[in-house]
Amino acid sequence: MVALRRMTEADLATIAGWLAEPHVARWWTPDTTAEAQISTYRERINGHGATTMLIASDQGRPVGWGQWYRWADHPAAAHAMQASDDEAGIDYAIGEPTAVGHGLGTELVAALVHEVRRCTGPVGLLVAPDATNTASRRVLEKNAFELVAVRPVATEPSQTPMAIYRLSP
Ligand SMILES: CC(C)(COP(=O)(O)OP(=O)(O)OC[C@H]1O[C@@H](n2cnc3c(N)ncnc32)[C@H](O)[C@@H]1OP(=O)(O)O)[C@@H](O)C(=O)NCCC(=O)NCCS
Repeated sequence: MVALRRMTEADLATIAGWLAEPHVARWWTPDTTAEAQISTYRERINGHGATTMLIASDQGRPVGWGQWYRWADHPAAAHAMQASDDEAGIDYAIGEPTAVGHGLGTELVAALVHEVRRCTGPVGLLVAPDATNTASRRVLEKNAFELVAVRPVATEPSQTPMAIYRLSP
């Protein structure tokens, strides 16, 4: 099973490597850079902002990362996504190329949902991968997320359609 722990500064070099992997870069950095992402992660690890950063391990080996936040802390994005105040959002990646396609992304999403609810109680989740990111959509569907809409989201850097999924509380 995928296990989660808090991300630390010591993880950032590994994540920088994962951000450079083509299967991650394709979805994670089309509108930003790996350097900007690492800088943001460093700030969050050091307590700035309200996003919780986590490392995912499989049998003790780090394989990816995830993050979660309350939509209420991002009012403009929440409005654009039509998120409720009590809903949470997650983002996730299996960075290790050899770990992709073995069910770990599905486990990672399950672990993130469990972690969010452990911290906040039985909240709903709202997540919006790029509509063409089939693997990301499948891991949500396999975790019982339901498709709400496919449309651009005004606060996203790109106006390509997003597939908006909700998991009820
Ligand atoms: C999305 C991601 C987390 C999926 O993790 P994974 O461990 O590869 O996925 P799983 O092995 O759990 O597979 C889940 C489903 O996706 C499908 N899938 C996996 N890779 C796929 C691909 N490249 N194209 C289409 N479907 C794919 C699998 O077939 C499986 O569906 P099935 O059971 O119906 O066959 C991983 O590919 C990843 O980190 N991608 C880069 C970062 C990213 O896109 N993050 C999400 C941003 S919103």
